[in-house]
Amino acid sequence: MKTLVINGSPRGRRSNSQRMADAFLKGIKEAGGAGKTIFLWEYDIQHCRGCFSCWTKTPHVCVIQDDMPLLRRELYGVALLVLAFPLYVDSMPGQLKAFFDRCIAGMAPWFAQDEQGETRHRETGMACRFAVLCNCGYPEQSHFQAVDLLFARMARNFNTTVAAAVYRSQGSLLQSEQEGLQPLLNAYFADLQEAGRVVDSGQPIPAALQARLEQPLLAKEAYLAAAEASWRRHRSIDAGSDD
Ligand SMILES: Cc1cc2nc3c(=O)[nH]c(=O)nc-3n(C[C@H](O)[C@H](O)[C@H](O)COP(=O)(O)O)c2cc1C
Repeated sequence: MKTLVINGSPRGRRSNSQRMADAFLKGIKEAGGAGKTIFLWEYDIQHCRGCFSCWTKTPHVCVIQDDMPLLRRELYGVALLVLAFPLYVDSMPGQLKAFFDRCIAGMAPWFAQDEQGETRHRETGMACRFAVLCNCGYPEQSHFQAVDLLFARMARNFNTTVAAAVYRSQGSLLQSEQEGLQPLLNAYFADLQEAGRVVDSGQPIPAALQARLEQPLLAKEAYLAAAEASWRRHRSIDAGSDD
C-alpha cells in the first residue's frame, strides 16, 4: 500500500510524533508497503483566504503561490495518509490545520448525500484513508476525545474513513532515556510496528492490540511528579539558579 506520512509537529524530526510515525511506518514497510515522510513545518503553507477562486475562476488551482501544489501532488496514488502530530489545545497544530484547509482546492463545490443523508462534497480530491497518530502532554487518554471526533468528521467530509487511530498520552516519555522505562517503550514501539503491519494489510487494529497501545506508560501520579520535576529542572537551568 502506498503510504504518505505527514508529520505535523513543529519539532519535526526530533518530535515524539516522529517516534510514533517511525515505528508505524516500519510495520507498514515490513508488510510490503511503501512510504515516505513529509515534515510539514519545512514547507511554506499559507492560510486559506476563503476566496473560493479554486472552485470558480480556476478550478482546483489556488491563488496562493506557496508549497501547497507540491504537497497536493504528493497525495497522488496514496492509499493511506498517516497523520502524526501532537495535541495542541485539544486539536491539531495550526500548520496541519492550514494544510487541510488548503486541501479544499482539491474539492469541487457540487454536493452529495452520504449514507446517513448528510451533505458533503461529491468530489473531494482525497482518495486516501487516514491513520491518526497523536500524542499529548497530559497523562490521561481522555484528552483525545475532541481530536477523535474531529478526524472522524473530517474523514466523512473528505469522503474517506479513519483506518486507524493511535493516541498516546504522556507523550514526552516516548524519548525518555530512563533505564527503567526502556522495556516498556520497546514493547510499545513493537506494538505500534505491529499496528502498522496490520493496517497495511487492510485490517483494523485488533481490540487487544489497540487496548495495549492505549495503556498508560506510567501511573498518573508518577508521571505528574516526573513531569513537574523535569519542568522545575528546566526552569532553574534557564534562570541560571537552582531554586
Ligand atoms: C501550543 C501547545 C499546545 C498544547 N496543547 C496540549 C493540550 O491541549 N493537551 C495536552 O495534553 N498537551 C498539549 N500540549 C503538549 C504537547 O502535546 C506535547 O508536548 C507533545 O508531547 C509534543 O509532541 P511532539 O514532540 O510530537 O511535538 C501542547 C503543547 C503546545 C506547544
